[in-house]
Amino acid sequence: MVQGKFGGEAELKPTISVIGLGYVGLCTAVCFASRGFMVYGVDVDRERVHNLREGHPPLYEPNLENYLNRTLRTRMFLPSDDLNSAVDKSDVTFVSVGTPSLDDGSIDLSSIKQSSSAIGTSLRNKSTRLLVVVRSTVVPSTCDKVVKTEIEAASGRKCGKGWGLCMNPEFLKEGSAIHDTLYPDRVIIGESDKKSGAALMSLYRKFFRRRVIVKRMSLVNAELVKYANNAFLAMKVSFANMIANLCESLALADVKVVTEAIGLDERIGSAFLNAGLGYGGSCFPKDIKALAAFGRKQNVDLPLVHATAAINKEQPLRSVDLAEKLMGSLSGKRVSVLGLAFKPDTDDMRGAVSIPIIKDLLQRRANVVVYDPKAIPQARSIFEGSVTYAESAIECIRGSDVCILVTEWESFRDLKAQEFAKLMKHAAIVDGRRLFDPSQFSRVKYAGVGLGPNQKARIV
Ligand SMILES: NC(=O)c1ccc[n+]([C@@H]2O[C@H](COP(=O)([O-])OP(=O)(O)OC[C@H]3O[C@@H](n4cnc5c(N)ncnc54)[C@H](O)[C@@H]3O)[C@@H](O)[C@H]2O)c1
Repeated sequence: MVQGKFGGEAELKPTISVIGLGYVGLCTAVCFASRGFMVYGVDVDRERVHNLREGHPPLYEPNLENYLNRTLRTRMFLPSDDLNSAVDKSDVTFVSVGTPSLDDGSIDLSSIKQSSSAIGTSLRNKSTRLLVVVRSTVVPSTCDKVVKTEIEAASGRKCGKGWGLCMNPEFLKEGSAIHDTLYPDRVIIGESDKKSGAALMSLYRKFFRRRVIVKRMSLVNAELVKYANNAFLAMKVSFANMIANLCESLALADVKVVTEAIGLDERIGSAFLNAGLGYGGSCFPKDIKALAAFGRKQNVDLPLVHATAAINKEQPLRSVDLAEKLMGSLSGKRVSVLGLAFKPDTDDMRGAVSIPIIKDLLQRRANVVVYDPKAIPQARSIFEGSVTYAESAIECIRGSDVCILVTEWESFRDLKAQEFAKLMKHAAIVDGRRLFDPSQFSRVKYAGVGLGPNQKARIV
């Protein structure tokens, strides 16, 4: 424990280790360290550990580099690949290793198994109590049947005897991960026993600087909350996109007007009702697939989950169809793609809708030029020499026949209709995220997702 001050009173701060220093683990680690907790970060990827020690985060996230360098300077955050020593020094160990999809949609639990077993081995000779907190997204019963079982087998100690287990799902959004870690809208604590839940409550009381809603429950309920939460949000996105497709068949209809209006109904709410090209990223697609696979395993049909995924699979490619509607065959045409990351303010291209869109464009023999403020290095490793990489949005659209706006980076909002008209060979834009005001685009062929036909001011 580290002696610290909070709310004017001296208090003991538990020492923490974080296993897995990706998005979730790294943000958790530097946020705790920034609030005066001693944090030992552990990752199996030695290059990642080396770069972290040098102050270079493996991913772009607003403020992350600042937090990392600040906490390295104060020596409150120590990254290493030595799990044994980190766990030995800790009171609390967060597990935030990856749980990627397997071919059948279920999740790969090998990193969870490996890290649980390694924690168990360290626990064998540990003289002080340890609280193990799973932050990775894992399907129901994993904490009980995999994490607990592995730790018990490797440590020779039953859960509750010198160690306890919590499931504490993470809800951060990439692009605002640091903020979301410091100021979550609620904390979910699944607990193996009351003592473990209370210990995590107490840790968070020392970490947060304002009141936060905490819900305590069983391990399996906490595991389910994460999946149900993401499935519901993804379903809202697919619902908006389904209505968008209907709007595109109706003169003067506009999904933006419709979803803004229904979002005002307090029972519905406006979040995640933006029609566009579908959801992407490292979580929603993976979690929806995992939930569907878990339903199959349990012999329970989950039709809303299947419909959500089916709509999302088709949605990105509608932008290519819209481009063809504006320009005719895309074969041999120069198509500029603005935005590659799965959402603004990140360089993450995992599950990004730009990937199927660009693949489809290449299949239709278009010459594709792409630009993203952060994700070009990631795009290069995916598309290699098959597309042209522009160094700015202006360079990307220059000389192109049609432009597809894929990711709604704030900086793209500054592009003016006159610039598209002046720089492009044929000024035609597919606004996949409804970033622009169509009425400003009278000199440009404009098609927006969810915008009905025959809208004079919009499509000339
Ligand atoms: N990225 C998000 O926005 C987000 C949000 C909520 C929940 N989650 C969930 O959190 C978990 C982690 O996600 P992420 O995006 O941070 O993953 P990530 O792939 O970015 O990072 C995982 C890290 O764990 C490390 N690792 C793997 N096995 C290890 C082991 N045995 N010991 C130590 N380190 C190990 C990897 O090297 C990697 O650095 C996943 O289950 C994910 O579904 C992610």
